[in-house]
Amino acid sequence: MAMTREENDLLTQVDNGAPMGEMFRQHYWLPAVPSSKLEAGGAPMRIRLLGSNYVVFRADDGRVGCFDELCPHRKASLVLAQNEDNALRCIYHGWKFSVDGRMIEAPNQVGDQERFCRNVRFNAYRVEDRGGIVWVWLGRGETPPPFPDLPFTYLPADQRSVTSQEVPTNWLQGVEASMDSSHVGVLHESTTQITASGGNQRINMTKALAPRMEFEDRPYGYRYAALREMSDQGVYARINNFVMPWYGVICAPEPNGPATVFFSTPVDDTTHRAWFVHYNVHRPLGMTIMSATPDVWNFPPLPPGTAADGWGQNRDLMKRGHATGFPQHLGTEDFAMFLSQGPIHDRTDEQLCSADAAVVKVRQLLLRSVREFLDGKIPHLANNPDLDYRTANSVGGLLRPGEDWRSLAADAAPVATAG
Ligand code: FES
Ligand SMILES: [Fe+2]
Repeated sequence: MAMTREENDLLTQVDNGAPMGEMFRQHYWLPAVPSSKLEAGGAPMRIRLLGSNYVVFRADDGRVGCFDELCPHRKASLVLAQNEDNALRCIYHGWKFSVDGRMIEAPNQVGDQERFCRNVRFNAYRVEDRGGIVWVWLGRGETPPPFPDLPFTYLPADQRSVTSQEVPTNWLQGVEASMDSSHVGVLHESTTQITASGGNQRINMTKALAPRMEFEDRPYGYRYAALREMSDQGVYARINNFVMPWYGVICAPEPNGPATVFFSTPVDDTTHRAWFVHYNVHRPLGMTIMSATPDVWNFPPLPPGTAADGWGQNRDLMKRGHATGFPQHLGTEDFAMFLSQGPIHDRTDEQLCSADAAVVKVRQLLLRSVREFLDGKIPHLANNPDLDYRTANSVGGLLRPGEDWRSLAADAAPVATAG
């Protein structure tokens, strides 16, 4: 089912008041920056979301503030501001904005300062600092949507790691890859074998490239089982979750191992930020390639080249048996695919197969939601205060003869809340 041009535009565009961007702004929390990037009293940072720029900073007391980047006076950047007394002071004329979102000083204004400050239009945004990520809500009104408290947001810091990378393509290419089970055994054949740690149930998925897919709608999106007939071991089930609007919760490759949440958030129409959260609900992560990276804002690495040189693909390595020639990281392999699809992937000229069912379902959910939003309704999977995101836990394992994959999912207890 190829898409129409209108559908592809509606799905992908987020800039300049595009409906999808406006829906995200109003109905979803946006992951903005890893918490560890903001030092108390340190330099403010520019973040770009849905085609607009914001400033985020951590005040002396540890709270995080998020405002429009440009000072409401004469539009100097608050990324350059002083971070002092739990507030940002613009270095141009000294207007000052407290971390809780109030304008508190205008030293170049004669007369009643308090009254003047109250009347200045100044946009500050709700912030949550949870699960190693600073999230912001950019919507209008007093009541933010329910926070997506996915399983990793409850865990102590040593049981999770957060890294992210800016990728110069549209966000949906990233989201689709996280729900694209059949690429794992092909694109990541070499990287998964190199990083495999030999758990006793590790299955070589390169032996079963065409999984049978079964779906179940969930209040947060859907989950699916990718069922692989292993000739000697029975049926191996991987149960993954898609959580609206961009979270792929991917099960651990081995029992009690770390699971992953991949998400791709829109920076603008042709840029996204790819997030990798690894977490282990059972024990500390220890030293992994993700938890050890020195730069959580630029990891995994982008492919080392440009389109002109095949994005830096190493063909010599391929001659020696590497599947892709991008040995840097599994994420680098994905990024190379996104870049090769182009800045905004053209879905009007695809030829899909049975393994793309999960990707198609992502598109259907997003399209239905944005059309509901355009009709002036609350999208059907948004703003549900009864939704328990902890149930979006993903598991994998061999099924006993005759066992239904849903019982495997039910056996996996939700993560306990921290207090
Ligand atoms: S531009 Fe910021 S105080 Fe004047
Ligand atoms: Fe991938």
